Amino acid sequence: MRPLIIGNWKMHLTVSDALAYARTLLPRLAAAGGREIALAPPFTALSPIAPLLKGSPILLAAQNLFWEDEGPYTGEISGPMLQEVGVTYVLVAHSERRRHLEETDRAAARKVVAAMRCGLKPVLCVGEDEADRAAGLAQTVVRAQLARGLEGVAPGEAARLQVAYEPVWAIGTGKAATPAQAAEMHALIRKELAGLFREGGSAVRILYGGSVTPANVDELMRTPGVDGALVGGASLKADEFARIAAYR
Ligand code: PGA
Repeated sequence: MRPLIIGNWKMHLTVSDALAYARTLLPRLAAAGGREIALAPPFTALSPIAPLLKGSPILLAAQNLFWEDEGPYTGEISGPMLQEVGVTYVLVAHSERRRHLEETDRAAARKVVAAMRCGLKPVLCVGEDEADRAAGLAQTVVRAQLARGLEGVAPGEAARLQVAYEPVWAIGTGKAATPAQAAEMHALIRKELAGLFREGGSAVRILYGGSVTPANVDELMRTPGVDGALVGGASLKADEFARIAAYR
């Protein structure tokens, strides 16, 4: 399974920032062979940076999509629109969207299905918050997010799917999960995927996200069951992201 590293810029960087970033990052990516690297800029920067990334090892990812292909859905962006500008991966139900935009597991499932239908590769984000973990509910919460968020995905489609385990308490806090915590949850997710997709479940990449930095990426990527990383804050500086992409 090829490891996948995605930089999630969230609501940062203008188009001119994004172009400057791409120009800095590209010459630094020599060591990225054997792995897949993707950037998820805001929607406005997708189309402008696409020509710069073409022919490079960096793929384009989007941070969200809507589940219909077109129609009266003011403010939304569809799968075919993302396809047209060269997007490969699309994040679904990031915890910030669940929290600030009240995105539900039902919405997540519709988006995962739509992404598949449009030839995109969805990255379903799951993860418990601090209170869930303190109450011993982390596994229950993640299991439910997977079962509901993957409703409607056929076993034959599982090879196009990725899951990102992002404990909410680790996102943007500088407090990454320990390798033991990540290993435990990734193993649980793998088991759930086998339950949902039988042998198809083994093809799903499971990414870890939450305070991944140049300082901890090597250890996290060596953790059993971790097939990639979803990187927020540390992906905003091209040289830091280049170091993360070149994890050893
Ligand atoms: P972080 O964010 O790396 O800044 O913790 C990760 C994410 O939210 O995808």
